[in-house]
Amino acid sequence: MSSHIIQVDVFDLVVFGGTGDLARRKLLPALFYRERDDQLPPESRIVGISRATLNRKAYAALVEAALREHLPAEHIDQAHLERFLGRLHHVRLDVTGDRGWQELTALLSGAEDRVRVFYLATAPGLFGPICAKLADAGLNSRRARVVLEKPIGRDLASARRINDEVGAVFAEDAIFRIDHYLGKETVQNLMALRFANSLFEPLWNHSAIDHVQITVAETIGVEGRGDYYDRAGALRDMVQNHILQLLCLVAMEPPTTLESDAVRDEKLKVLRALQPIAGPAVALKTVRGQYRAGATNGAVVPGYDEELGTGAPSETETFTVLKAEIGNWRWAGVPFYLRTGKRLPRRASEIVIVFRSIPHSIFAPDAGSARPNRLVVRLQPNEGVELLLMIKDPGPGGMRLRAMPLNLSFAEAFRARYPDAYERLLMDVIRGNPTLFMRRDEVEAAWAWVEPILAAWQERHETPKPYAAGTWGPSAAIALIERDGRTWHEDAA
Ligand code: BG6
Repeated sequence: MSSHIIQVDVFDLVVFGGTGDLARRKLLPALFYRERDDQLPPESRIVGISRATLNRKAYAALVEAALREHLPAEHIDQAHLERFLGRLHHVRLDVTGDRGWQELTALLSGAEDRVRVFYLATAPGLFGPICAKLADAGLNSRRARVVLEKPIGRDLASARRINDEVGAVFAEDAIFRIDHYLGKETVQNLMALRFANSLFEPLWNHSAIDHVQITVAETIGVEGRGDYYDRAGALRDMVQNHILQLLCLVAMEPPTTLESDAVRDEKLKVLRALQPIAGPAVALKTVRGQYRAGATNGAVVPGYDEELGTGAPSETETFTVLKAEIGNWRWAGVPFYLRTGKRLPRRASEIVIVFRSIPHSIFAPDAGSARPNRLVVRLQPNEGVELLLMIKDPGPGGMRLRAMPLNLSFAEAFRARYPDAYERLLMDVIRGNPTLFMRRDEVEAAWAWVEPILAAWQERHETPKPYAAGTWGPSAAIALIERDGRTWHEDAA
């Protein structure tokens, strides 16, 4: 990938949850890659915060083990590794108690002019208390920023509470709410596709587009995160944030610039134009599912309840489909079918724009029918863009129509490593660029749309419908789209 790497300002990055899963799997590897590209100034420090008793050496050993576990061996060279490990500090700290705060303050003192980032990779219930403690300790220096990992709350009220508590300490432009989907190269590419090409914009509306499908399918189960996941479910875990953000990028009006508020204002308008799904519409426009035992990736896997292992049957959804509609001129009458689930047949995040059928066919019936054009934006894996076109099947046997993809594979076009979303996002925090982060009003507007669905599921005792692991969810998910005379992309081939 060709990109111009500019060193960021000197920073101190303090990671609450510094020994946790996210830090080990994502944050530290992402920072290491930035080290490899010499993007981190030599004086910058990374401070892991946890309750463990670890001196600097022990923390460095833990981080090295995490890098070795999560990165290919050939990506770790000794010189960069040593430089990276040399930046690490660890403070044993009790986030709600008194232990460790003095030590953290002492470590950071004298560096007030640096960019100071507090990354809260903790449970959302701790965001407010940690910010209050940071204020008490006087650590909110002029260039301090706070990063909040999702989920921001579990409903509108709790999201507002967290936003109020954090907002009491940090100004909105110093609060970076992460939605890691926005940091994915292919998600940013959606903006390039839409706004750096003149081809699509005239067609990007209800007169040319029949409907849109957004799918984020995973083959994994809950992966040891059962505790969190069982309290969240697919709607809170994936739709409220990642999928609605994707929907916004597809549906928003062209912002006047890429400046952060210009983009976020447009996304907010989309969220506010989403038609509420409430009351009886919930039964028609939503599906909840939960996986049972089955097979994915050629392996037999247990059902959700067995994987959780609590002994009690759970009513949490691991799959959901929603039919979302946007009440504005551009999108009137164009449904957005949103689908996500765990233990599905393949890992695939994609956006499919299905264009309208041709208005009249000039071809004889035996030519076959012209299928509607589709633009498929593959976010992961096999990142790329595919445009399904109708062509003449070659040969002397008369006119036969055939659908063929015009396929742009990013892996083939750019033979380079795709940076992880966190690499971009962490550097944006340090640079102070919030374009790819969620503003308070966006998060709250997303909760405001999702909440009536959650409420209706609860009121109607809508238990999730079972589906076998390795299938595309319960049959109701297929019925939902077929009732509208449409099919899911994978069934349309
Ligand atoms: C996280 C969800 O936000 O996104 C997980 O909490 C999910 O449940 C993950 O697995 C998916 O992210 P990615 O980048 O692997 O598509």
